[in-house]
Amino acid sequence: MASSNSVLLKVEGLEKRFGGIIALADYDVEIRPGELVGLIGPNGAGKTTVFNLLSGVLKPNQGRIVFNGQDITRLRPDQNAALGIARTFQNIRIFKELSVIDNVKVAFHIRMGHGFWKTLMHTSDYRYSENEMEQKSHEILELFDLEAIKDQPAKNLPYGIQRRVEIARAMATMPKLLLLDEPSAGLNTGETDELVKTLRKIHDTYGLTIFIVEHDMKLIMTICQRIQVIDRGRMLSTGTPEDVRHDQRVIEAYLGKSGHGKQYAQG
Ligand SMILES: Nc1ncnc2c1ncn2[C@@H]1O[C@H](COP(=O)(O)OP(=O)(O)OP(=O)(O)O)[C@@H](O)[C@H]1O
Ligand SMILES: [Mg+2]
Repeated sequence: MASSNSVLLKVEGLEKRFGGIIALADYDVEIRPGELVGLIGPNGAGKTTVFNLLSGVLKPNQGRIVFNGQDITRLRPDQNAALGIARTFQNIRIFKELSVIDNVKVAFHIRMGHGFWKTLMHTSDYRYSENEMEQKSHEILELFDLEAIKDQPAKNLPYGIQRRVEIARAMATMPKLLLLDEPSAGLNTGETDELVKTLRKIHDTYGLTIFIVEHDMKLIMTICQRIQVIDRGRMLSTGTPEDVRHDQRVIEAYLGKSGHGKQYAQG
């Protein structure tokens, strides 16, 4: 197991091209166990591309990803998941027809190597560990305040709760690193406040390492210890929320084109 001063994730010189477009160039990041790090940048900056590379959905054209001491640059998404990298998506991805508890259970089983179909078909090795699964699923549901609605189909729930189900599913795989891609997208103010509480809880309860992409500046500035800013695939700034907030390049990247940048900078 990684010690507290070691590095959980080390990324060096990552590059991703789509045809002629350089979506990401020369990207580096280092995350230590238990850190909560933010990744921000304007639309199309390359944020989701970073997560797609880290989760194995995309392969880089250049660079290296080392996770927990192992080179995972060329591994598949299921291999990365098994090693402890879990993620959520910009557009919620849960099993909408399944109940809340079944969404969580499927995630548990995938981690145990039972696979999706065995889980749903209730084969013998599924039943073998069902009690344990049941108990762990309830723990997760309680942690996420989902116990009371555990039997409802996910599709019937408000967007904010569906987002919580998605994060609960990711947590059910017992990850070492959780990647959250714009978890507050589509949430109202109340739901966003709930999300912040949930993230604080999982960070504090499990000392979980979290890497989060967000457009909500208030959210990111409040919860992150360290923030990276990318723009058009390149690193623009990195530091504490305070450093980044006052970085002229960041102010310009976000506000420059709207004509408010100068005003903001002077104010
Ligand atoms: N699968 C793909 N095929 C082709 N181009 C892609 C693909 N995925 C991303 N891109 C391009 O790469 C660039 C970075 O996209 P990416 O989705 O990583 O941005 P983002 O920072 O997540 O943006 P947003 O804030 O809108 O979610 C964009 O120009 C995008 O059009
Ligand atoms: Mg994105």
